[in-house]
Amino acid sequence: MAPRKIIIDTDPGQDDAVAILLALASPEDIDVLGVTAVAGNVPLPLTEKNARIVCELAGKPDTKVYAGCDAPLTRKLVTAEHVHGKTGLDGPTLPDPVMPLQDRHAVDFIIDTLRREAPNTVTLCPLGPLTNVATALQQAPDIAERLQEIVLMGGAYFEVGNITPAAEFNIYVDPDAAKIVFGCGAPITVMPLDVTHKALVTQPRNDAFRAIGTPVGQAVAEMTDFFERFDKQKYGSAGAPLHDPCVTAYLIDPDLFGGRHINVEIETGSDLTLGMTVADWWGVTDRPANATFMRDINADGFFALLTDRLARL
Ligand code: RIB
Ligand code: CA
Repeated sequence: MAPRKIIIDTDPGQDDAVAILLALASPEDIDVLGVTAVAGNVPLPLTEKNARIVCELAGKPDTKVYAGCDAPLTRKLVTAEHVHGKTGLDGPTLPDPVMPLQDRHAVDFIIDTLRREAPNTVTLCPLGPLTNVATALQQAPDIAERLQEIVLMGGAYFEVGNITPAAEFNIYVDPDAAKIVFGCGAPITVMPLDVTHKALVTQPRNDAFRAIGTPVGQAVAEMTDFFERFDKQKYGSAGAPLHDPCVTAYLIDPDLFGGRHINVEIETGSDLTLGMTVADWWGVTDRPANATFMRDINADGFFALLTDRLARL
């Protein structure tokens, strides 16, 4: 089967970095048409730089990286240096990028790519706030029906929030954008905290990254050593949750995941629950299903795939 054509929309972030590495290590499954950076974990000048750093770490300096929106549609940007560090990629010492940033805006790249490629052959993979994707949908509503799928990391239901008691970070930063995306009509698959909090980099799993014995393996292990502090402290979890790589792993082996096709709406009115993904998991409303909301993962299978693929780089 031909590799899936994807655009990765991202706010690197250590977990974004691992998701990008996994995609670039899997050419038989994934054809990365481009990487579009958005403001999120850290401001845009850093997320676009980090995206290029990661592509060079993967040995893929020809990857096309575009800078997108530097702030949410209407709200003030909220960042997450408390999780990812000042640079957004704290942990390893990685060289500044040499590869160029593309001079087109990420939103124009998304629109033009979806209009150029055959209908329903391109998958959007948002790993950060949905500002770029929503802006593209606002400027070019016709692209919604041309999408094969949107596979995104964001939201939470049983796990509730990680940035507020009710909301997950990616949705919280730009809830208006999320509302547009979840209402666009394209097939959507969601990797919420409910599943990503089960993809924990325990010490043996991080030791396996380090044991790859390559600069990529070492860098991923050092990213995780840094990134795990927040979740270990907050949740007492056994390691860092690899949120964003769940998106890439789903593209490679969807059978690693399980969930339900349900209705998911986004809270944009209440300050108390702003950005909450109101997931009708139990089907108590007659709201139409608009997303496949994942809850289960074969974590050992996920880490076996990830470690095996990272060793290729
Ligand atoms: O809440 C986790 C999400 O927020 C991940 O995508 C992480 O990279 C941050 O963007
Ligand atoms: Ca992210």
